[in-house]
Amino acid sequence: MIKPYVLPDLKQAQRRQKGETPIERTLFDIPEVLRTAGKGKTYFIRTYGCQANERDSETLRGILEAMAFTSIESMEDADVILLNTCAIRENAENKVFGEIGQIKRLKQTNPDLLFMVGGCMTQEEHVVNRILAKHPQVDVIFGTHNLHRIPQLMLQAYYSKERVVEVFSKEGEVYENLPVSRNSLSKAWVNIMYGCDKFCTYCIVPYTRGKERSRLPEDILCEVRELAYQGYQEVTLLGQNVNAYGKDLDLKVDFADLLAQVAQCGIPRVRFMTSHPWDFTDKMIEVMATQPTIMPFLHLPLQSGNDAVLKIMGRRYTADAYLDLVNRLRTRMPHLALSTDIIVGFPNETEEQFEDTLRILEKVRYDNVYSFIYSARESTPAAKMEDNVPQDVKEARLKRLNAVIGAHALEKAKAMVGQTVSVLVDGPSKKNPAIYSGYTDTNKLVNFVPTTAQTGQIVHVLIESARTWTLQGKQVAN
Ligand code: SAH
Ligand code: SF4
Ligand code: F3S
Repeated sequence: MIKPYVLPDLKQAQRRQKGETPIERTLFDIPEVLRTAGKGKTYFIRTYGCQANERDSETLRGILEAMAFTSIESMEDADVILLNTCAIRENAENKVFGEIGQIKRLKQTNPDLLFMVGGCMTQEEHVVNRILAKHPQVDVIFGTHNLHRIPQLMLQAYYSKERVVEVFSKEGEVYENLPVSRNSLSKAWVNIMYGCDKFCTYCIVPYTRGKERSRLPEDILCEVRELAYQGYQEVTLLGQNVNAYGKDLDLKVDFADLLAQVAQCGIPRVRFMTSHPWDFTDKMIEVMATQPTIMPFLHLPLQSGNDAVLKIMGRRYTADAYLDLVNRLRTRMPHLALSTDIIVGFPNETEEQFEDTLRILEKVRYDNVYSFIYSARESTPAAKMEDNVPQDVKEARLKRLNAVIGAHALEKAKAMVGQTVSVLVDGPSKKNPAIYSGYTDTNKLVNFVPTTAQTGQIVHVLIESARTWTLQGKQVAN
């Protein structure tokens, strides 16, 4: 018998209690009848959004492969299609609805196709209501808290031929021992914590991902050691704000302690994201500066360079405090590369406030900046603010901002010409297989002429020329 729908509730998702996070180690199970259900069948997963979603999709792949489904490159030929969605801005959501519309056609030609939609968008009530009302081609709707239930949800959908909707709006658990099928054999994502408690006033993530909850250090270290054993060359520790790692545990372990331990696991390159500028400690700076395996690169979201805007955003730091942190980081690590996120056109942002952001950019001179036009997210405090800034003004600001960002990135790239840098090889470039590409320790994309380079190796490359977003060079002896 089919269960009634379990629907999302953003108000419920906002509630936070203090207390221990349950760690679930045994909830995942594949019913006997499904263990070979995917034999001869294929799946296709499209992932939107951030690295948390990328890593979730690797779990979803692991689950589907544990049921004997195999991955396929073309969506048209798949027996199971899964969209792992992102709710961060309206244009991200529009893209997903466009794709959901397209898939209706595939469902008509292949009625046996199983179409599942999950991720952050389905944690929102209005999204689920819209899918239920207008998109009957979607068979299963799940959320971010129940990846482990995919086999049961698929079973219901296959047997009942009815739509299955299960989205929990809760603080969340930590699930260990879910299967994983990683996208790369050399670079791996490792979750160290889930959720977010910062509630920046514009942001939907704390509602879609639940409360901040850390994995136990031994579980993280075990995963990293296993990756080292398998030959992985790079791990990126993931969390919406990794600085908060451990605050919910009763173990007196903080992010700096964890980072220092991960750095010793035998993986040559360790990265982490994202760090909130607010609780970035000197202890973290010290660990970064003294552990050679921690890469000299930091993503440090600024959002705005104006104190009044930062305050309404709920970011809990001032522009000066941010600059002071950058200063401390660069004093200790002169070669540190920095990237950031900027939101333009926050409700009522004035010309002067926007120019404050440009001024900080001029001072910091980032290697890379991700710039966004503010997008109102339902149920967030900022969405209730009236906004007097016309869309064309926001777009003009974004354009000005992007010109500055590009100029700084080019300046940074040009400064690397003539240097020999280490590059982790991603493989031959898609456009020209005679050229290989990879990333420097400072996270810059390099296209180079290989001699001995193989995918997954760290090689030395002499940089010969630079464009804004790519470096060009040739491999030299290590
Ligand atoms: N946890 C990360 C951010 C995750 S979201 C952090 O705090 O750094 C990634 C970026 O999307 C944010 O840094 C912000 O710049 C942008 N963003 C989030 N909500 C947004 C919104 N409503 N409109 C526009 N950009 C937004
Ligand atoms: Fe969103 Fe702020 Fe949390 Fe980042 S720290 S995910 S911007 S609420
Ligand atoms: Fe998007 Fe969810 Fe990540 S809203 S940015 S996929 S946490």
